[in-house]
Amino acid sequence: MKFKESLFSRRQFLNGLLGGWLGAFLASILYPVLRAIFPPEKEPDQVILVSSDYAGIPANTVKMFAWGSKPGLLKKTEKDELVAFVGVCTHLDCNVIYLPDQKKFFCACHDGWYDENGTNISGPPPRPLRRLSVTVEGDNIIIKKEGAT
Ligand code: FES
Repeated sequence: MKFKESLFSRRQFLNGLLGGWLGAFLASILYPVLRAIFPPEKEPDQVILVSSDYAGIPANTVKMFAWGSKPGLLKKTEKDELVAFVGVCTHLDCNVIYLPDQKKFFCACHDGWYDENGTNISGPPPRPLRRLSVTVEGDNIIIKKEGAT
């Protein structure tokens, strides 16, 4: 049997190899350039909400706010305390909703469930919802990353 009968010639093989290396080389140069031109949106350190906009939240309900490009969820507990979460699932970043009648957060993407404190209780979410710290100062509700000063 002759070598000539192979599916690819040596020239085709080397051209394919060279094209692959060239593509990888160009991608390694273009990726950092594109990241510099279009940087990923940075998460805020804090957001300040006007408390009068959120004063009427009944207990055991949630009102949304913007946490950078993600939804934030401000929840009034049954003890009238305010708690806040980043409103995206810890599985694959789908948005979550709060179901007051069940006192649970729900992610419809893959049937993920969290209890009312944001603890993952069922489905694929690997971690609790990200909690944010909430302080009320005068007419402002200041929401910060937990651990931020
Ligand atoms: S993204 Fe929420 S369960 Fe998969």
